Amino acid sequence: MTLKSDFEVNNSMRNAPIGVFDSGLGGLTVVREIMRNLPDESITYFGDTARVPYGNKSRETILRYSRQIVHFLEEKKVKAIVVACNTASALALDTIEKELSLPILGVVRPGADMAIANTVNKRVGVIATEGTIRSGLYRKLICGADPEMQVFEKACPLFVPLVEEGWTKDPITEEVARRYLGDILEKNIDTLIMGCTHYPLLRSLLKKVVGDSVQLVNPAYETAQALKKMLDEKGLRHDPVSVGEECGRYRYYASDSVEHFMDFANRILPYYSVGAELVAIENY
Ligand code: DGL
Repeated sequence: MTLKSDFEVNNSMRNAPIGVFDSGLGGLTVVREIMRNLPDESITYFGDTARVPYGNKSRETILRYSRQIVHFLEEKKVKAIVVACNTASALALDTIEKELSLPILGVVRPGADMAIANTVNKRVGVIATEGTIRSGLYRKLICGADPEMQVFEKACPLFVPLVEEGWTKDPITEEVARRYLGDILEKNIDTLIMGCTHYPLLRSLLKKVVGDSVQLVNPAYETAQALKKMLDEKGLRHDPVSVGEECGRYRYYASDSVEHFMDFANRILPYYSVGAELVAIENY
């Protein structure tokens, strides 16, 4: 990894891509928000499709996987890294952040910050993978900001396969959502964090289930906003004048099933892409 002291901004760095990674396909919801909100920026995305899911794995395993991916992205000369996966943000980011000189950002803090800003009755729900819920990070950040906050959490492991199956508006998924959210909704929350990469794709279904009194927080969108702020603060925003390119360039890498990866990408991203490259990530 690059040592802390080696980090220095120069022009070629400003025009380098942003590295984004996830356990698989879901992190593309974060890519989508970066494309919409930072259209000049180029993105190099890695999806760990060979080792997904991360949501039920140990901290040690997720840290090892994340270090390998960060190493891969460093080789691709990215200027900053976004950990698009909530589980990796919750379990590995704090350690990786200390080891790395590149600016790095996860999705949990931006999501938690928006929930803190949004809640009026100080009762916040969090839905996520088992790993993210087990880490307690959303709870820690929210209650750390204000001890009067109450956080109600629920792991929703079935949502990931349902989204990947494309059943985002299916009555079966709605029934599953009603079961998962029943207890949380009884707690009179006014804010619900969609704390997993896939959940923003269930937004309209979740809205139907939670009703108008509950505001949904999308950490993917909040992360794109936080990224914009971070790049500005560090003087790292893409400079279209010096590079002569006004539009971002996008590159995709995955550790398995690249065709399936691209099908999913082309279903949810605003721009059509032709392919992803296969990477033997265990070698990093
Ligand atoms: N990307 C994961 C997350 O946001 C969901 C999928 C998985 O379990 O790997 O937590």
